[in-house]
Parts: sequence; structure tokens; C-alpha cells
Amino acid sequence: VNEKRKQLLSILLKNKGKYVSGEEISQRLQISRTAIWKHVHELKKDGYQIEGLRKQGYRLLEASESLQPSSLTPFLQSTWLGHQIHLFEETASTQLEAHQLARLQAPSGTIVLAEQQTQGKGRLGRPWFSPKGSGIWMSMIIRPQIPLSHVPQLTLLTAVAVLKAVHKATGVKLGIKWPNDLLFEARKVAGILTEVNAEPDLVHYVIIGIGMNANQEEKDFTPDIQHIATSLRLAAGKKVSRKALILHILEEWESLYELWLEHGFTIIKTLWESHSVSLGRFVTARTVNGELAGFARGITDEGVLLLEDEQGQVHKIYSADIETP
Ligand code: BTN
Repeated sequence: VNEKRKQLLSILLKNKGKYVSGEEISQRLQISRTAIWKHVHELKKDGYQIEGLRKQGYRLLEASESLQPSSLTPFLQSTWLGHQIHLFEETASTQLEAHQLARLQAPSGTIVLAEQQTQGKGRLGRPWFSPKGSGIWMSMIIRPQIPLSHVPQLTLLTAVAVLKAVHKATGVKLGIKWPNDLLFEARKVAGILTEVNAEPDLVHYVIIGIGMNANQEEKDFTPDIQHIATSLRLAAGKKVSRKALILHILEEWESLYELWLEHGFTIIKTLWESHSVSLGRFVTARTVNGELAGFARGITDEGVLLLEDEQGQVHKIYSADIETP
């Protein structure tokens, strides 16, 4: 993004609603009046509502809600995550785009966003409904130097990061259902899909997909998921800013990741457990090998769920759908 435009935007943002004179801007940025006019024109194209009056200068009325990289980057607080953003108006799946970019050596921290996915992927080969404009459909390319067995930790870390970001951006408090569903009052708001390209001892890259229902209304959900899904808008009682959510996710994710690199999984695990709605409850796990009921006791460092049955025997659940009565 053009550095001068970024500076202009930051001046206007700091004075949101108030006029800043052309002269002041021109002096601070060391550019001509015509150059300012051109930058304002570009910002307007990006969705910023800016008013210009010859005698008064320019004032910003509404920041842009666009997910264009140029309107996200000036606000990024992270130091490396999200410093490359690709936005697709429509794509089959941001996961597929991310894999392709990763194969082409895209750096760690590259983000792929889409307004709409036509073949959104959920866990266990399920489809993920990704209608236009209302959700956050995002994949991150990460290149951690870790063994394959540590990858699930990143999924759990992501659940915590997204939950924190949602709270900061909207005030809504979500709970985590094992393994990584984010729920509001027992309905799913967001899901995480981690895919990895690795050898047993060496991870080449990880693609972490986050799907979040942001601004859907009740009627926007298809009948088959209406009773199990909800959106942040429905939870908060007002529209939410996808832009603010994305920025917070990137910031929270990066800082948890740094914490994890430095101190290991213990802190993340504690955070995950403290927000879990599954632990300590009697649940039914539907696995490919059948059903198992018991108390969810905890998770291991591999992200495995420990389920204690009524005979007191503890089972390791690697993959399942959890049902709470
Ligand atoms: C789940 O089953 O809960 C995981 C859903 C993950 C959906 C996201 S949306 C962005 C990324 N692209 C995809 O195709 N899937 C993930």
C-alpha cells in the first residue's frame, strides 16, 4: 500500500468526523493538494466515506468495511502474520488457494480471504456453507518447525485466539466444543480446519482454515443447519465488523503463537480448557467405530480427548463428534 495514503488515512482516522484542512495534510505529508485529492479518490473507491469541502478540507465519516488488502493492512497490529493478504471475490475454497500459494513458496503468515466459497470444506470431508459477504472465510499459511505430532496444538491455539478476538471485537463470549468448534449457546458460530503438508518428522507447512458466521440472519441458514448454527450478529444483536474481527484474529493468533513457541503448549492448553464447554460433562462421542459415552476429563498435548466411561476406564478419542445431552 502506498505509504502516503496510509499516513493520510491515519490522520483522517484520528480526526474521524472532523475536518482536517488540505493545507495541514499537505504540510504533514509533504505532498501537493492534487496528490491528496487523488489519494482521497482511491480511499473512496476502497469504501471509505470521505467528505471534501474546498474551504474546510477533508473529513472521514465512515471507515471502510472492505476486506481488500489495502484497507486491512494499514490497521494490522501483527508483526508478520497477515503481511501478505490475498482476497478472492469467489473461490472454491480458500484452503485450496492457500495450498497452491504454499507450493509456490508463499511466506509463513500469508492469508487468503474470500467473500464467497463455492466448495467450502469442513472437517471430516463435510461441506462448509460459505455464502457471499456475510462470513469470514479465511486460511492462513504457517511454516512452523515442528514435528507432525505437534500440529493439533496449533488447532487448539487457533480456537483460543479466535475466541479472544471475537470477545474483543464484538463483546460476545463463545465456548469451545472439542475439538475446535466455537459455540454460542450450544450453536456453532465458527469452525477450524487444519490441513498439513509434512513428512513424519518435518512439517513443510500448515494451512489453518477459519470459517466464521459473522453477519448471517436466521433466514440465511439453510433449514438443515438452522437449529445448530448461529452468527455473531444474532449473538450480539447487531451487525459486526468482519474487518475488525479479522484484524483481531491476526493479532491474537500471532501473540499466542509467539507464546507457544517460547513456552510450549501448557499455557495454551490451560486457556483452551478454561473455555471448553465439553470438559467435565457427560458426553457421547460418535466415532467411526461406534458410540462411546462418558465424562470428558481433559485433553492431551496431542489434542486427544480423554473420555472416562462409567466403569472408570479412560478412553482416548482421536476423532469424533461430541454430543452433550
Ligand atoms: C469445521 O468443520 O468446523 C471446519 C470449518 C472450516 C471452514 C473454513 S472457511 C475457510 C477455510 N476454507 C475452507 O474451505 N474451509 C475453511
